[in-house]
Amino acid sequence: MERRIINTDLMEEDRAIDNSLRPRFFEDYIGQDKIKETLKIYIEAAKNRGETLDHVLFYGPPGLGKTTLAGIIANEMGVNIKITSGPAIERPGDMAAILNSVSPGDVLFVDEIHRLNRQVEEVLYPAMEDFAIDILIGKGESARSIHLALPKFTLIGATTRAGMLTAPLRDRFGIVNRLEFYNAEELKQIMIHSAAKLGVEIDEDGAAEIARRSRGTPRLANRLLKRVRDFAQVRHNGVITREIADETLRILDVDASGLDASDRRVIMTVIEKFSGGPVGLDTLAAAIGEDVGTLEDVIEPYLIQNGFLIRTPRGRVASERAYRHFGIPVMDGFITEE
Ligand SMILES: Nc1ncnc2c1ncn2[C@@H]1O[C@H](COP(=O)(O)OP(=O)(O)OP(=O)(O)O)[C@@H](O)[C@H]1O
Ligand SMILES: [Mg+2]
Repeated sequence: MERRIINTDLMEEDRAIDNSLRPRFFEDYIGQDKIKETLKIYIEAAKNRGETLDHVLFYGPPGLGKTTLAGIIANEMGVNIKITSGPAIERPGDMAAILNSVSPGDVLFVDEIHRLNRQVEEVLYPAMEDFAIDILIGKGESARSIHLALPKFTLIGATTRAGMLTAPLRDRFGIVNRLEFYNAEELKQIMIHSAAKLGVEIDEDGAAEIARRSRGTPRLANRLLKRVRDFAQVRHNGVITREIADETLRILDVDASGLDASDRRVIMTVIEKFSGGPVGLDTLAAAIGEDVGTLEDVIEPYLIQNGFLIRTPRGRVASERAYRHFGIPVMDGFITEE
């Protein structure tokens, strides 16, 4: 896969910037208001009762703040967080060891939780429900199972692919939240905060321009901000304005709607190779040389949410907006509704 500036997945260069810009408390976490309001209530109620918070599942496209929220929950609860991920836990024994190392009240954060294998997942069921695990000791005839009580803890799972979670796992989360793309105003506020943390000057229009072209995604907005900052420093006087943001984003091939080359290729492929659709997800993925998961979870959600692509029972269809975006005359009888 070509390297996309607009890829919202975590890239190596993001690690440092993600950590330095990551909000630590709800106070600094902009947007996702519904999630924030309900979580605040659950956290306060749990604290008042002296209990742990119910298990929480976050799902939604990459870079919207799932990991950030897990950290915030731990901070707001005043507990420690242990971080692991689905692919990192290979054997049931590894999961048992992790669970056994959790202290009372702690948060255990499992990123990419849809990638836990079945045997590992089965260790989680009694751990989540009864705070206990059954481990098998010994082999053959002398093997016996011992029941081990665990302290109460909060499991926080995150996934970009909620559809790949098994029902028994999903059902064990008391609180399930879907993260939404951010609107331009929220991203603008995030840009102003991030610029302040990075110690770079930005004006309102500059922040708005980056916000508008960041696919509704804070991680991407922060990454673009870093690039724009470089241009502002080297080619200008260091202050980020709309002109400088626009100049940088043009060079990075991010268009006025925040679409990059991959987005445009997806839409143009639907229009040109499949007469505007409908085209099935697999066929479309093959046509653009992308894997289905990336198309479905990373590229497509933003295009659908913003009305460039329409999901129909027979496949993806390019919308009127998509035709207009590329200045292509709309054909008769195309579908505008789901
Ligand atoms: N609500 C927010 N306010 C301010 N900054 C945010 C917010 N949400 C996310 N960010 C910024 O975006 C970065 C990416 O967020 P995060 O790592 O939490 O995304 P994620 O949903 O876990 O992504 P992935 O699915 O790739 O794991 C954070 O480091 C933070 O800097
Ligand atoms: Mg994450």
